[in-house]
Amino acid sequence: MSDRLTFFVAVNTGFITNGLPDRRFLDFYESRSSHELYCSIVGNVVVPGGYGSNASTPTITDDLVWGELARGIAYGGARPGIQLASAWDGYVGARKFVTSAPNTTIQQARALMASKGRHELSEVIDSFRSAARKALEHGFRHVQLHAAHGYLLSLLIDRRINPLADFVLDGLSSLAVYLRREGIETSIRISMKTGDESFDNAGAVEFQDEVAALPFDFVDLSSGFYNVDKRLIYPTTPDFLASRMSQSRQVASRHLNRNFIFSGRLKMDSLGDLPSNMHPGLCRDLIANPNFLLTTQNGCANHNKCHYYSRGKAHLTCGEWKSSPT
Ligand SMILES: Cc1cc2nc3c(=O)[nH]c(=O)nc-3n(C[C@H](O)[C@H](O)[C@H](O)COP(=O)(O)O)c2cc1C
Repeated sequence: MSDRLTFFVAVNTGFITNGLPDRRFLDFYESRSSHELYCSIVGNVVVPGGYGSNASTPTITDDLVWGELARGIAYGGARPGIQLASAWDGYVGARKFVTSAPNTTIQQARALMASKGRHELSEVIDSFRSAARKALEHGFRHVQLHAAHGYLLSLLIDRRINPLADFVLDGLSSLAVYLRREGIETSIRISMKTGDESFDNAGAVEFQDEVAALPFDFVDLSSGFYNVDKRLIYPTTPDFLASRMSQSRQVASRHLNRNFIFSGRLKMDSLGDLPSNMHPGLCRDLIANPNFLLTTQNGCANHNKCHYYSRGKAHLTCGEWKSSPT
């Protein structure tokens, strides 16, 4: 019997109506909750006053639908979790998988950070705090801060991009401590690399180590910036999958006292030799088959239909679904 905890890592489904989760959203998460799953982290939920990464991202509010969602997941057997996120005014996600000008994204990120003072950064931290409080009032029991994929927090916490990163890291640490005191489990999701090779070659390990030292219960190891190279976010080919696994393993091995979530088309029956602080995160296999954890068969078949935004569509779909939409 393994003591590894299995997570359904964040998915931005696009199943919203008037900015809030709709029936398809609730059904999607309820049908994938089970006692085999430790925690289901509802994907990419925008903080109050924040900015969505596309037009199909919901914002957390006082609306009762959020409580219904948390209860639906808990009823299925998993701990209800939520990923809190923001982009910024004017953010546009690339449709292409790989940018032709990788260093432009980092340059623009540095320019954006240079325009932000402590007051504005405090406001951002406050909006995450307010979102987290709403999440716990609705019954979520795991709060994840989305500091990966090139969204706002990933720029704010990286001292290679933001000269005031210390200030933000302190603010997020206080939030993690506050949530722990409230009995809420926490995680922070980061991108181990951006996909911009010259940027990644200097300081990536220090960045990972700095995040691993923060007082979150889990660090969720993702990779890639959306506007640099999405192949790192959704690794598919054997080389991208192997590299994601090896980087995750290296980070976790350096911090055996910290728990990590890792993902990338994991083979659930061959996790045995990994450090015990590495907890599996599944995404595409569970999208494809809500019962994937029971048989670990009939998962994702790489149809690539789930990448709805890149395909110019409004919501998730999957080549494995027999009927629409979930
Ligand atoms: C359709 C789709 C939507 C995703 N949305 C999010 C998201 O909202 N937030 C996030 O951090 N990751 C998101 N991801 C990345 C997944 O959480 C996961 O890290 C990635 O797919 C690798 O895991 P897998 O190989 O098990 O699919 C998304 C992935 C897919 C396929």
